[in-house]
Amino acid sequence: MENFETIAIRTQTERTQFQEHSTPLYLTSSYVFEDSEDMRAGFAEEKERNIYSRFTNPNTSEFVEKITKMEGAEGGYAFATGMAAVFSTLAALLNSGDHIVSARSVFGSTHGLFTKYFPKWNISHSYFDVNKPETIESLIKPETKILFAESPTNPGVDILDLEYLGEIAKKHDLILVIDNCFATPYIQNPIKFGADLVIHSATKLIDGQGRVLGGVTVGKADLIREIYLFSRNTGPALSPFNAWVLSKSLETLAVRLEKHSENALKVAEYLENVPQAESVKYPFLKSHPQYEIAKKQMKLGGNVVAFQITGGLEAGRKFIDKLQLCSRSANLGDTRTIVTHPASTTHSKLSPEELEAVGISEGLVRISVGLEHVDDIIKDLEQALV
Ligand SMILES: Cc1ncc(COP(=O)(O)O)c(C=O)c1O
Repeated sequence: MENFETIAIRTQTERTQFQEHSTPLYLTSSYVFEDSEDMRAGFAEEKERNIYSRFTNPNTSEFVEKITKMEGAEGGYAFATGMAAVFSTLAALLNSGDHIVSARSVFGSTHGLFTKYFPKWNISHSYFDVNKPETIESLIKPETKILFAESPTNPGVDILDLEYLGEIAKKHDLILVIDNCFATPYIQNPIKFGADLVIHSATKLIDGQGRVLGGVTVGKADLIREIYLFSRNTGPALSPFNAWVLSKSLETLAVRLEKHSENALKVAEYLENVPQAESVKYPFLKSHPQYEIAKKQMKLGGNVVAFQITGGLEAGRKFIDKLQLCSRSANLGDTRTIVTHPASTTHSKLSPEELEAVGISEGLVRISVGLEHVDDIIKDLEQALV
């Protein structure tokens, strides 16, 4: 198999008669047929061809092919957003009465799906504590169909042992679904550890420059077939323009992630040595409780650092207000460093008890370390921490 960087750059749609070097943008909603027989064969799926861009499009196919190869998967489908990928993947595979076992620390909208929407279709869930993975098996019921987790988690940067999750899923015949958003396929390949499906919000590090929304699910062919058929009918497809942007972004994913991770490690090491940070979590810091697991399954630590600011909610708010270079924004995985304080922003409606239940303390600050010069990032944090 080719190396990651070569896959990222050389996986390309067939050249047209214009012999373009770089893949062009195929802004077309549909495709034409030679005759009625060609059309019949296309719809009957006897021929692999584009019919309508809600199903496939050359730009989305190129993007999906790259992620499929990078993750060591058998196939995939691309979505308009990461949440469309999470929702469509689960909705395609679950039936009324089914049950999900998931880590409690999941992205807020995924938590919303589990708690607000899936119950409408009689799909239930049980959460396990990321620090107590030994409790997972006790939550599995005869109707459990999916084991779901993120690693690293958002926003707490906890690590789950993917090999262990893979063993449990195999033993109990569950579909293991991993949201690999924080790691990207360059840093971690959950399929190697037993995942059946891998989901990405391409909006984050895959785009890497804060421009477009996108999502993708890759994995086992039979499961992807179900997800494809569901999506072909329900319409969460990624736009060709965004697919074109994202496929270009993948060409530089490896070099970006090397630098993001180098900067993030320096930021984490800086924070470990300041009194204003009570504790710091970064996968490749030796002090991370799951450091050994992170080293086993991750090539690099990624770009997200979480720390507990001394002084809780008020201190968090003041720190955010003082930042001059770093952006106050809810996104992550951008070239620009982004700092978020969940307790006073995204999770401000939650009570201290509810915050604790989802693994967010009042003083938790998440830094998505960008690609500015690391000295300038640290200088900004330093002046804001006084
Ligand atoms: C872990 C994780 N999964 C899914 C999503 C949803 O992605 P999107 O915003 O592209 O819908 C996010 C977004 O922040 C995320 O962090």
